[in-house]
Amino acid sequence: MTDPHQIRKGLAGVVVDTTAISKVNPETNSLLYRGYPVQELAATQPFEAVAHLLWHGDLPTEAELADLRREERMHRALTPAVRAVIDGLPLEVHPMDEVRTAVSVIGAVEAAGSVDGSGSVLDASASPAENLARSIRLFAALPAIVAYGQRRRRGLEPIEPRDDLDYAANFLWMTFGEEPHPIVVDAFNRSMVLYAEHSFNASTFTARVITSTMSDLHSAVVGAIGALKGPLHGGANEAVQHTLAEIGSPDAVSGWLDDALAEKRKIMGFGHRVYKRGDSRVPTMQAALDALVEHYERPDVAELTSTLEAEFVARKGIYPNLDYPSGPAYALIGFDTLTFTPIFVASRVTGWTAHILEQAASNALIRPLSAYDGPAERHVEGYVPDAAELAVARANAERAEEALGA
Ligand code: COA
Repeated sequence: MTDPHQIRKGLAGVVVDTTAISKVNPETNSLLYRGYPVQELAATQPFEAVAHLLWHGDLPTEAELADLRREERMHRALTPAVRAVIDGLPLEVHPMDEVRTAVSVIGAVEAAGSVDGSGSVLDASASPAENLARSIRLFAALPAIVAYGQRRRRGLEPIEPRDDLDYAANFLWMTFGEEPHPIVVDAFNRSMVLYAEHSFNASTFTARVITSTMSDLHSAVVGAIGALKGPLHGGANEAVQHTLAEIGSPDAVSGWLDDALAEKRKIMGFGHRVYKRGDSRVPTMQAALDALVEHYERPDVAELTSTLEAEFVARKGIYPNLDYPSGPAYALIGFDTLTFTPIFVASRVTGWTAHILEQAASNALIRPLSAYDGPAERHVEGYVPDAAELAVARANAERAEEALGA
């Protein structure tokens, strides 16, 4: 039996495979996408270019970017099948369940025809080219789904996409029905770039496990959404918003922190499993938040967030992570708190699908072992094994004895 002391609970510290997609370096607190520091990409690239980089390994040429944008625009609209299914869900469903269901519907519709008359699956895993095409269509479709989710909860109709707007501006257009200001588009675009990829995190690993069984791309993304939904993974940006609302004003920070730390509460948006001395994505997102604070003339937001940050860092030496500036940024833009994690999905789908393509290109079924610690073998009372079973049991016992003797 495997030595239980060898087990690394939560796979902590276990290197599972190689990847060429991103590198997280805890020593320098840096994150590289295909070799590029993420903060450089966020400051200079539209999200579409970063999606291309993650899928293909290099930033696109002008012609490649134009091709991707053309393809993305063709698949932006909410399809009737997806709308019908979303409309069939109660308004009170968790928006992550809504997004997960919508992706499942897209996958089912795209896979129609992949099962033959006898019910055999003809090609669940699909070719690399088809998987890339599915990735682009999903990347294109998600903003309309996320935007409609927020609108539906506000009793509003969906808004048709605009072909003259790039990905980030169109996402905001479909959510709010107003042409967004360039400062807002830039801040939102930066957040999308920063959330796109983070190596073998739980949701990405889930997508790779599902892909390793040669299941289809949409099943892998649906599984990844399920993993992201958990509060230990996605969702901290949402929690930051609840914390700030609970505190209320800068004057209340000190007393609130006294109580929270006395109760051993975790302060949302601070700390990271990998980055222990600050998250390299934060300064870029903080600059975007600062620009939004100025644009919307909301110094109160900056005062509250900077007071909490300064007090918490001074007391505990634990630094903010990306969710700390992104939560208030999304709130200023006008997103409902419940929409934050679905936005994360729309961004991270690029990283997930890049990993799905990479896993499929060099596949090995991911199937770890476990150390059994349940009851010893026992039998159902009154059960009488037949002769064949007895023969198998005898043979097994002999093999076990031989192995012990060897
Ligand atoms: N608030 C208060 N204390 C915190 C903290 C936080 N946000 N993050 C870490 N700590 C404290 C722990 O209580 C622990 O203290 P102790 O040694 O006295 O018990 C110490 O710092 C080490 O924390 P630990 O839980 O071992 O770190 P981790 O690497 O397992 O946790 C997180 C990382 C992200 C799970 C954790 O920092 C956290 O829960 N943060 C808040 C949620 C969040 O923002 N998540 C988004 C991550 S991108």
